[in-house]
Amino acid sequence: MTTRVLTGVTSTGTIHLGNYVGAIRPAIRASREPGVDSFFFMADYHGLIKCDDPDRVEASRMQTAVTWIAAGLDTNKALLFRQSDVPEVCELTWLLTCVTAKGQMNRAHAYKAAVDAAVAAGEDPDSNVTMGLYSYPILMAADILLYNAHRIPVGKDQVQHIEMARDVAQRFNHLYGEFFVLPEAQVDAEMELLPGLDGRKMSKSYDNVVPLFEGGAAALQAAIAKVVTDSKLPGEPKEPEGTAFIQLFDAFATAVERQAMRAELKAGLGWGEAKQRLVAQIDQELDPMRARYEQLMANPDELEAILQSGAERARAIARPFLAKLREAVGLRRSRLLPGRGAAATPKAQALPLVKQYREADGLFYVKLTQGDAVLLLSPGFAQGREAGQWWAAVKAGGAPEGAQVADAGALAEALERLREAEAAKQKA
Ligand code: TRP
Repeated sequence: MTTRVLTGVTSTGTIHLGNYVGAIRPAIRASREPGVDSFFFMADYHGLIKCDDPDRVEASRMQTAVTWIAAGLDTNKALLFRQSDVPEVCELTWLLTCVTAKGQMNRAHAYKAAVDAAVAAGEDPDSNVTMGLYSYPILMAADILLYNAHRIPVGKDQVQHIEMARDVAQRFNHLYGEFFVLPEAQVDAEMELLPGLDGRKMSKSYDNVVPLFEGGAAALQAAIAKVVTDSKLPGEPKEPEGTAFIQLFDAFATAVERQAMRAELKAGLGWGEAKQRLVAQIDQELDPMRARYEQLMANPDELEAILQSGAERARAIARPFLAKLREAVGLRRSRLLPGRGAAATPKAQALPLVKQYREADGLFYVKLTQGDAVLLLSPGFAQGREAGQWWAAVKAGGAPEGAQVADAGALAEALERLREAEAAKQKA
């Protein structure tokens, strides 16, 4: 069994070097580990809670996606998608909302902080609270539970949200059956904290950031020139340990390079020269990535194709799972209710029928029926083999591209029963 690791990214504003060293680079490395299925998504539905500027929403989810790809995320292995390209998450949010205690949401840190701020300002406690903010943790629970993710790497501020997701999952499981895996927060204690230009943690709120890709090499150069150092002159020995300079250098250097830089500073290397080397050191890693960043930002169609394919793969998991959940809570298609005649049971259990055939137009088609109902009609294919491959992909959970589907829920259910029957056959 592989471990599903899921990361949601909200971002507004420029992505900086601290985000790269502290979050993006380690997450991409982790996604390359064997036995791990990684899910990365731009939490743009969450973004709407904090931002009502459409252009900013658009730019930020695009920049975030491009940054992750440019930084080396392998989108053939890891799944990269936009949260809002999988609208199933909204439907799951509602199912979960219906089993979430209001009292639990009252205790959410972000909500409480908004209330405290309003009270302190002498305003009505809820004056700054939208229902989006209030329900934020439920949407986040849906993000995680929709893919039955095992492990969620997060900062400390998000741990409460993961606990809430566990609680909601448990409550749902208790009511309807064991559908959800209980997710675990993974808080990396040694998550590298990169200092900003002034030595404090790099953060937009301190205005001490080095932009990652935006602004290009020139912006990097200009920012590094502003790194605060002592006023020792070239030729004077310098103590590297504990400086913002050396921490920035370390984040982009090998052990050997780190030692060499320390020795040179102690031997009197000037700060100006040292900063030039730091820029070169960072550029060596970022330069190829920056080229990819610029190239993708200039080719939105290429980006769109990557994200659409990520969304399709995510939906191939989300769609059939949600169909099961709808079934579980009683959102079912019309059938003979229990006690309304014996025909109900055997008919419900009859397997759907698959037919591949050639039409008068000379093309090959695949049709899936249940009794008189046509659940799926494929597009026409020139070759019988193509039709067979198309059907194999759909059966394996792929999107039924180009097909006529009357009722997606009924189709998902029928496919599930077919798969179960085949699995049972293989066992026998
Ligand atoms: N709330 C997270 C943050 O602000 C972003 C997020 C949204 C998320 N959905 C998620 C993180 C699901 C992990 C899992 O950082």
